[in-house]
Amino acid sequence: MDAVLPDAVAPDAGLPLCASHTLEEKGRAFLWDVRQYGRKEVAFVMRFEGQLRAYLNRCVHVPTQMDWQPGEFLDIEKRYILCSLHGAAYEPHGGRCIGGPCGRGRLTPVAVAERDGQVYWYPSRDIVPAPLAGPPASGPDGATADPAAPAAPESPP
Ligand code: FES
Repeated sequence: MDAVLPDAVAPDAGLPLCASHTLEEKGRAFLWDVRQYGRKEVAFVMRFEGQLRAYLNRCVHVPTQMDWQPGEFLDIEKRYILCSLHGAAYEPHGGRCIGGPCGRGRLTPVAVAERDGQVYWYPSRDIVPAPLAGPPASGPDGATADPAAPAAPESPP
């Protein structure tokens, strides 16, 4: 098992992401929704030189997603993670900026592991699963619909 668990709050409670075989060496990354400090973010995991590498899909230069096609992060020579917006380049191992407008920044890592043919990720204090569904829709006055409340009778034509 290859796991890096910064700030992990439940190291044994990995959440399943995808089958290991779907992550080909230097191939398309798997993307999933998370929340960091309550803000919606996207994370990605890829296989690079046999190891899983996972980060938030957020450039250090401007907080925007970096992939030039969904799940495609590597440069043409498949050596660096490249931001599609202004070309910042990051080391796949460790996420450190090595060129472009990202300065001395570093991508935000996400803890992942692989076992029995399955890839898992590990929520941390700061990065947690995104809710499966949004909050109940609210009306213009801020009132929320109560799904248990009986439906209002239809008015006659
Ligand atoms: S937003 Fe990524 S390099 Fe500018």
